[in-house]
Amino acid sequence: MTGPLRRVLSAFGLLGLIAVALPAWAHSGPKHLSPEAYARKLAPTPPMGWNSWNHFAHRINARIVREEADAMVASGMKAAGYEYINIDDTWEGPRKPDGEITSNAKFPNMKALADYVHSEGLKLGIYSSPGPKTCAGYTGSYGHVRQDAETYAKWGIDYLKYDWCSAGEKYKPQQLQWVYTQMAKALRATGRPIVFSLCEYGWQDPWKWAPAIGGNLWRTTGDINDSWARMSAIGFHQSHLARYAGPGHWNDPDMLEVGNGGMTNTEYRTHFSLWAMLAAPLIAGNDLRHMSAATREILTNREVIAVDQDPAGHQGYRVARYGHTEVWAKPLSHRQWAMALFNRGGKPTRVTATWGEIGQQGPLHVRDLWAHADRGLHQHQYSAVVPSHGVVMIRVWK
Ligand code: GLA
Repeated sequence: MTGPLRRVLSAFGLLGLIAVALPAWAHSGPKHLSPEAYARKLAPTPPMGWNSWNHFAHRINARIVREEADAMVASGMKAAGYEYINIDDTWEGPRKPDGEITSNAKFPNMKALADYVHSEGLKLGIYSSPGPKTCAGYTGSYGHVRQDAETYAKWGIDYLKYDWCSAGEKYKPQQLQWVYTQMAKALRATGRPIVFSLCEYGWQDPWKWAPAIGGNLWRTTGDINDSWARMSAIGFHQSHLARYAGPGHWNDPDMLEVGNGGMTNTEYRTHFSLWAMLAAPLIAGNDLRHMSAATREILTNREVIAVDQDPAGHQGYRVARYGHTEVWAKPLSHRQWAMALFNRGGKPTRVTATWGEIGQQGPLHVRDLWAHADRGLHQHQYSAVVPSHGVVMIRVWK
């Protein structure tokens, strides 16, 4: 063989090797990642989307899900960052003789529904339980974990909320982590990226172990409802969990109630601000097809969403409490901070955030994220009169 020919052949051999090895490497790529690193790829910032439960509960069906996806686009929510359309409980049908889960008559064709949602540039989520039955009494994944994960992947599902419920009939409490690990592994084994949302109501401190098994988010509490009392009881009691959240793995104080009618717009602004300060998943729970202008304005406030979605992924925490007022702070990237001045009391009250509370020295620039207005430079502090059950939320920087 001549020298040049040998060089051509050996170059081709190298290229051939790369051509064969590269796709194999790319395919097996995620396998080399730890569960936590894989989770970080799936949810680098808190997931944003919509879920059927809070507004529709069992009255959800495929037609409404399509319309909600349409509305997510038309309302500007998709453009503001919302991505997941999540079907909660009550979609499940019986199993086929070979064990494969089916969807019930309300969801005639899950694959077609996923295709539709994907065609709008959105992603589809689904719900199950590790027990024999879901919370609403539908078919759970017990005995079919691998098979169900494969079915979800086949349908084109992108997100799973996995709700403990009847699993206690089959498993001991000390098996709970193992049970969630099995589904995490099964989802990953499908090769399809599927966000994993754990729902065991904060019972076994999931913030301590869910990141290591590849959990992307975990409920920290029992269910929210559309009331000031319940929303604030949950939201203002999350400060101690701040250190457990970070890119890929998030504390989930439950889905949003904004726009469902049980709170005032002032209270919904507080709800949304608090969830953003908590770096919580922003999963709208209202009917996107029929939103008031005020509801849409709250859910698409990009300055508040940017606080939630800040890439540094720090969760905020309470820095001060005086009477019925609280000041919370969230470190942002580029050495900026978000601060929220909350008034949980019954009458308008002046609330003051001081730079010492975030270890900073003034003067600092202040921008009001609900008024969308710069408030100038402030030497030591910023104060505002906050309405009853209201909030003033600011971004501050040097
Ligand atoms: C539990 C969950 C809720 C919802 C219902 C559905 O209560 O916490 O978020 O998913 O089940 O049955």
